[in-house]
Amino acid sequence: MKIKSAKWRNGMKLKIDFNNMMKDFVGEQQGFDKNIFEENKGLISNAFESVIENRGTGMMGWTELPYNQTEIVEEIIQTAKNIRKKYDNFVVLGIGGSALGTIAVFHALCHLRHNELPKSKRKSPKLYVEDNVDPERMQALFDVIDLDKTMFNVVTKSGETSETMAQYLIIMDLLKKKYGDKANEHMIATTSGEKGNLIKIAKQENLKTFYIPEGVGGRFSELCPVGLLPAAVVGVDIKAMLKGAEFMDKICQNKSIFKNPALLMALLQVLAMKNGKNISVMMPYAESLKHVADWYCQLWSESLGKATNNLGEKIFVGQTPVKALGVTDQHSQIQLYREGPFDKVITLIAVENYRTTYEISDGYKDIPEVSFLCGHTLNEFITVARKSTEYALNIANRQNYTIIMPEVNAFTIGELLYLFEMETAFAGAMLNIDAYNQPGVEGGKHAAYAIFGKKGYENIKKELDNAPNKNSKYIC
Ligand code: PA5
Repeated sequence: MKIKSAKWRNGMKLKIDFNNMMKDFVGEQQGFDKNIFEENKGLISNAFESVIENRGTGMMGWTELPYNQTEIVEEIIQTAKNIRKKYDNFVVLGIGGSALGTIAVFHALCHLRHNELPKSKRKSPKLYVEDNVDPERMQALFDVIDLDKTMFNVVTKSGETSETMAQYLIIMDLLKKKYGDKANEHMIATTSGEKGNLIKIAKQENLKTFYIPEGVGGRFSELCPVGLLPAAVVGVDIKAMLKGAEFMDKICQNKSIFKNPALLMALLQVLAMKNGKNISVMMPYAESLKHVADWYCQLWSESLGKATNNLGEKIFVGQTPVKALGVTDQHSQIQLYREGPFDKVITLIAVENYRTTYEISDGYKDIPEVSFLCGHTLNEFITVARKSTEYALNIANRQNYTIIMPEVNAFTIGELLYLFEMETAFAGAMLNIDAYNQPGVEGGKHAAYAIFGKKGYENIKKELDNAPNKNSKYIC
C-alpha cells in the first residue's frame, strides 16, 4: 500500500461524530450539556498532562512502537517472506493480548474467507489462532493441518501462561517425534527477553525468537512482534499499519479536546460512566471489524476494570464492554439497547467506502414490498441501516457516537487500534487508576497454577483446599 502524500493521509483521518451524546439529540435527561468541556477542563488537562508526561516510560512503552522498530520490522518482513515460501499454515499459540490483536487485524485486512480460498488466490498461508485449551478444538486443528507444512508461533509475554504452555508442550512433543533435531524449524517464539520460562525454553531449543519490549503489556502489544509477525505472514502491510498508528499518535498529542479524538472519547465515556452508563457497546458496521470489537473488549475491560485507584482507595470502577455487529445485531441486541435500562453508551463504527460494491438484483416487480430494494446496493443498505439505528437510538434517548473510517485499510487499522489504546490511557488517567496491570487476570492464573501443584503457589492451594465443599442441594 502506498502512503502517497500528506493529503492522502489526511483523507484517511478517522473522525468522531458525537452529536448523539448531546442533549440536542438524546434529550435533556440523558444527553450532555454543551458546557461539559468547560466544567471538566481540570479533569481533561490533568489526564492529558499525565499521559503525555508518562508516554514512552514504564508500561507506556507502546507509544514508541510506531517509531522504534525499523530494524525489527525488516527482520519480521524477511521472516514472513521465508515462511510464505515454505509453509501452508501459520498457527499462533497464545491467549488474551497475545491472540486478540492478531485475530482482529487478520479479519480486518485479509479476505474475509482467507482460509477457505484456494492457494492460488490466497497467496499466503492459512492463519489459525489457538487461544483456548478445549481438547476438541486442538483435535480439530490437527484434523485440518499438515504438520510438514505448518509453522507455529508460540506467543506469551510472561512466558508462563498455562494455556499457552500446555499447547506448546503438546505441539513440541509432536514436532520432536516427527522431526527430531529439526523440530525447531516449525516453531517461532515471541516472548519477553528478560523474564519467564519461554525465553529459557527458546534458548534451549534454539528457536527463532522475537522479543516483546518490556514496557508493552499484552493488550497493547498488537503493534510489536506479537501482532506484526502473523500479520506480515498473511500479507498485511505492517509498515502502513505502523504509519497509521504514528499518524494517530501525533493527533493524540494535541491538547485541544476537539482535535484529540482519544481524549474526547475518553471524556465522553468517563462522564457517561459517572452517570451510571456502565456498559460500552462497540458496534462496527463492517464484518471486517467484528474482531476489532472483540479486541477492544479486552483492552477496555482489563485496563479499566479496577478495584482500587492510585491512592489505594476501593473504587470498583469500570465499564463492561459488549461486542455487537451492524447490521447483524440490529436483529438481536438493539431491542435491549432501545428499551432496556439507560446503562449503555453505544459506539458505532461507520465505514465510508467499502472495498467492494454489490448491487441488489431486479426482481418481483409485482411485489413492491420486496422490489423496493431493487437497484440499490448492499453498500447503501448497510449505511442506511446504520443511520436508521442512530435515529432509533436517538428517539429512545440513548447516548451514542460514531467513529467514521474513510475505508478499512492497513493505515486506518493502525489509526483505529492506536486510537483505542490512547483512549484507554486517557480514561485510565481520568479515573486515576493503573490501566496497565491486571491483578484480576493474575488471580485466575495463580489459582490454576495452585490446582496443578506448581511450585510457589502452595498457599493458594491451601486456601482452595479449605474452601467449603459445594452443596449438592444447589446442583439440580
Ligand atoms: O493484556 C494482558 O496482559 C493479558 O491479557 C495477557 O495478554 C494474557 O493474560 C496472556 O499473557 P501472556 O502473553 O503473558 O501469555
